[in-house]
Amino acid sequence: MAFRIAPSILSADFARLGEEVSSVISAGADIVHFDVMDNHYVPNLTVGPLVCAAIRPHTQAPIDVHLMVKPVDRLVPDFAKAGANIISFHPEASEHVDRTLQLIRDHGCKAGLVFNPATPLNYLDHVMDRLDLILIMSVNPGFGGQSFIPSALPKLREARRRIDASGRDIWLEVDGGVKVDNIRAVAEAGADTFVAGSAIFSTPDYRATIAAMRAELAR
Ligand code: DX5
Ligand code: ZN
Repeated sequence: MAFRIAPSILSADFARLGEEVSSVISAGADIVHFDVMDNHYVPNLTVGPLVCAAIRPHTQAPIDVHLMVKPVDRLVPDFAKAGANIISFHPEASEHVDRTLQLIRDHGCKAGLVFNPATPLNYLDHVMDRLDLILIMSVNPGFGGQSFIPSALPKLREARRRIDASGRDIWLEVDGGVKVDNIRAVAEAGADTFVAGSAIFSTPDYRATIAAMRAELAR
């Protein structure tokens, strides 16, 4: 299986964001994870399409926009225009999940659904053909640096089972509290794409941290 490392820029130095993005990608990461919070769906406020457009020229890596906003639809065209490659959202935040998924693909992006720790996977029942990515939250959304919630592991296993049964090429991403010392267990539960914010950006040597993660994945 191809594993992808997706540093969350939430823990990067925002005063030097372009530089942070290019250095974490040249340190061996695959994807830029871009956390959008609106102080309504989650109790924090981060960045929007302007900042996405500003980092776009700094990397060729895919930008993975994680929308923690409500409502969702109005922002989709803006992020597509700002250079997002993947856009994912929380089903509770959209009145019409199927429509939002279509809207994302209509704008030329890959579409993802995000599951909070207490959100059931039933939202997947009728939309597997509209999905490119499933994101399992292993913390409650809103902040970096929280601890991994262990119930994410059986949930990842169930999501992996559903993806395999569908026969589709759907990425299984995990977000929250992923570190060198638990990434292997998370991969064993079925994840193939790993968001890591504080675990990468709080270390002085991004290359060494990403290499340590890959060594755990290869073990
Ligand atoms: C939390 C965000 C995460 C966050 C992860 O709401 O969705 O992407 O940045 O941070 P760490 O890896 O520090 O838990
Ligand atoms: Zn995220």
